[in-house]
Amino acid sequence: MNLDFTFYNPTRVHFGRNALEHLPEELAQYGSRVLLVYGKGAIKRIGLYDKVIEILKEGGKTVVELSGVKSNPTYTQMMEGVRLVRENKIDLILAVGGGSVVDCAKGISLSAHCKGDPWQRYWINFEEVDNEIVPVGCVLTMAGTGSEMNGGSVITNEEQQIKGGRTYPSNINPKFSILNPEYTFSVPKEQMVSGIFDTMSHLMEQYFTGEDDNTTDYLIEGVMESLIHSARIALQDPQDYEARSNLMWCATLALNTITRLSKAQDWEVHMIEHQLGAYTDCPHGAGLAVLSVPYYRYIYKDGLKKFVRFATKVWGIDAHSGSEEQIALAGLDALGDFIRELGLPTTLRELGTTEEMLPRIANSAVKGGGYRQLDETDILQILKACF
Ligand code: NZQ
Ligand code: ZN
Repeated sequence: MNLDFTFYNPTRVHFGRNALEHLPEELAQYGSRVLLVYGKGAIKRIGLYDKVIEILKEGGKTVVELSGVKSNPTYTQMMEGVRLVRENKIDLILAVGGGSVVDCAKGISLSAHCKGDPWQRYWINFEEVDNEIVPVGCVLTMAGTGSEMNGGSVITNEEQQIKGGRTYPSNINPKFSILNPEYTFSVPKEQMVSGIFDTMSHLMEQYFTGEDDNTTDYLIEGVMESLIHSARIALQDPQDYEARSNLMWCATLALNTITRLSKAQDWEVHMIEHQLGAYTDCPHGAGLAVLSVPYYRYIYKDGLKKFVRFATKVWGIDAHSGSEEQIALAGLDALGDFIRELGLPTTLRELGTTEEMLPRIANSAVKGGGYRQLDETDILQILKACF
């Protein structure tokens, strides 16, 4: 653990089949005016909306609703939520849905009392958050992003064609998150696998940096192992409670900052994917699935030892089966096989990308980089390899 760190995560998690029983005690800690944020209807179809409304009514809450939050939530929708918070003097924002709903709720929470233009201040300039935060609570219905236990809020500004966000200070983390794996049973297969790969990508973004002997890397390998194992079971039987509960907790662990402690971190695949999303509106995990193998093939020589470790420890490649380069590449082949096994797309064309979008995506993606610092030309080459 060579890099210093401070660890603090203020989200209280209630996990399991009866987790919703904790909602009344959580709600009791806040004032009476609640903004209920949700998506396009899944929570109504699974009967969760009625249950939550009943609990809110029993708790004496006045409920204002922001519904129809779309996947890859937009700044326009978020600002509609800001208006509702201001007009109704909201005490608590309750997000019921997937990562998009939770991110939208956190964006509203951050922006409602912002002095000045929130987009410019918090999503472009990454300024320090100096205003009051409206508390957020979460009832999660889809596993993948980890938004239920972190300070991330990824928002798309449609006018500017920028999808952006960062980890904001932990006071925008949900104050509480209710995680019942049974709510994820109804998630369509293409969304389930998108969430699984999002989790895998979060783990890889943190894993593929550094060469030191870091406990966090061992932890990440363990979470990857559980994720891959449970994904295979859930593919066969989406109603398998144990598999879905493992997938849900893997997703939370992958981005609740535990798996980044003392790590430099990469996040380049995410930076490219966010711009891909801004241009195509593709499911986040599907975009990551297309980009990952070509990106890692492009940079693996700069972190060769770690890619060998990934191949042998995560994918069980025989450490004596070839040169270091051959083993590292066999690990990336295994990652590609897993992507196909999940039924995820493997080309940008499948996501609706056109050739003329590629340079614009390459130019607008934020350049970070773990083992190698990339420029526009590098990113364009990677995008062409994915096309
Ligand atoms: O709109 P509804 O009706 O709710 O349907 C959703 C949506 O169509 C559906 N769904 C959710 N729960 C369901 C369900 N359908 C049936 N049964 C259920 N129980 O699934 C679809 C996708 O939902 P969405 O919330 O968009 O998916 P996800 O959780 O993958 O969130 C994606 C967003 O999170 C951002 C992504 O960029 C993207 O905008 N991310 C947020 C992060 C964070 N806050 O830390 C990190 C990630 O890297 C990511 O960038
Ligand atoms: Zn992600």
